[in-house]
Amino acid sequence: MSSIAPGASDELPHRRDFLVLATGALAATGAVAALWPFIDSMEPAQDTLAAGAPIDIDISPLQPGQQIVVLWRSRPIFVVHRTPEELKTLQDPKTLADLRDPHSTALQQPEYAANWHRSIKPEYLVLVGICTHLGCIPNFMPGVGTVDPSWRGGYFCPCHGSRYDLAGRVFKGVPAPYNLPVPPHRFASDTAVRIGENIAGSTFDFSTITQI
Ligand code: FES
Repeated sequence: MSSIAPGASDELPHRRDFLVLATGALAATGAVAALWPFIDSMEPAQDTLAAGAPIDIDISPLQPGQQIVVLWRSRPIFVVHRTPEELKTLQDPKTLADLRDPHSTALQQPEYAANWHRSIKPEYLVLVGICTHLGCIPNFMPGVGTVDPSWRGGYFCPCHGSRYDLAGRVFKGVPAPYNLPVPPHRFASDTAVRIGENIAGSTFDFSTITQI
C-alpha cells in the first residue's frame, strides 16, 4: 500500500511520499483518480511539514468505506470514513469479546477519542498507521471475509499477523500489544480535519502515548 518505511528518519517527506491514497470498498480506478487531484492540492508547504505543524485534510471527497493516508510528522496517518455497517460491527459484543483493550483504557488516544468509536465523530476515524508490535504499516482491509472467513473488516499487519478492528483496536492473540494510536485532531470545519491540534479544552500531549 505504501512506500513509507516504518520508523523512517525525520527527513522531510518527498512530495510524492506526502500523500498516499488507499481505498477500501470503492477501489475503482475512477474513484481514485477523482480523489487524487483534489487531495494532492491539499499538500502543505514544506516548511509547514518541517515544523511538524498541524495540517488540514479535506475529507469532502472521502466516501463511506474509503481511507486517505497522509504524512504528519513523518508518520502515516489514516483517515477513514466508516459506513453504518462498520460502526455496528464496532459495537457488536462478539467483536468486543475478541479485543484486547475494547474500551481504550491504555493511553493510546486523546481523552476525546476514548470512546466506542475512538474518534470525535463516529463516522470519521483518524489513526497513526504504525503497528504497535514492531512498527510496520498495517493494511486497510475493510471488506468482510477478505483476510479469512471470520474477518469482519479492519487492519491487518502483514509483518507478523497483528489484527485491528476499524477503530484501530487490537485483537487478542496477536503480537501487537496496544491499540493503534490516535493523534491529536479536531474538525476545522465540517469537511476538514486538522491533524496535530486538539479540540477546545483538551491539553492532550501526543508524546505521552504509551506506544507507537
Ligand atoms: S509489526 Fe505488525 S505484527 Fe509485527
